[in-house]
Amino acid sequence: MYLVRLVYASRVVRPLDDGDLEQILHSARENNKGAAITGMLCFHRKFFLQCLEGSRSEVNRVYQHILNDKRHTEIVILDYQEIVSREFDEWAMGYMPESRLTESINMKYSGTKEFTPFEMLGESCHQMMIELKDTVPIV
Ligand SMILES: Cc1cc2nc3c(=O)[nH]c(=O)nc-3n(C[C@H](O)[C@H](O)[C@H](O)COP(=O)(O)O)c2cc1C
Repeated sequence: MYLVRLVYASRVVRPLDDGDLEQILHSARENNKGAAITGMLCFHRKFFLQCLEGSRSEVNRVYQHILNDKRHTEIVILDYQEIVSREFDEWAMGYMPESRLTESINMKYSGTKEFTPFEMLGESCHQMMIELKDTVPIV
């Protein structure tokens, strides 16, 4: 089965703490290892931005679980592409915390220094995540 990439943004339903993020990342990484899914999750106060890569069937299946997760809402697909290779092949789910989403990277890929994934092109989100991966140590 060939590869696809799905990028979505969502909004948290309540303020999340480190424990909430740890739980999300733990189940994401465990499940994604079994499903051969790789990617990156960015979190900034109110918003998530996530990239999932893998076989079409597994990416679609995992995305259905994510859609039903009550911890976030307003989930919007920003980009869905067939791809020839993975960008995040080393991470079952790399995590990019708020402190790494700086004003300068936001300015480079959007019209404002705030992190506003709903206002961004899917391709800008994708390129921003690649730059973060290449320049910032992933947690
Ligand atoms: C922002 C966000 C990102 C998530 N990313 C993933 C993911 O990449 N893979 C995954 O399996 N679950 C992910 N989850 C968790 C799923 O929504 C769901 O809780 C999980 O698949 C259930 O698995 P479990 O029964 O093993 O806990 C994410 C949840 C949230 C809120």
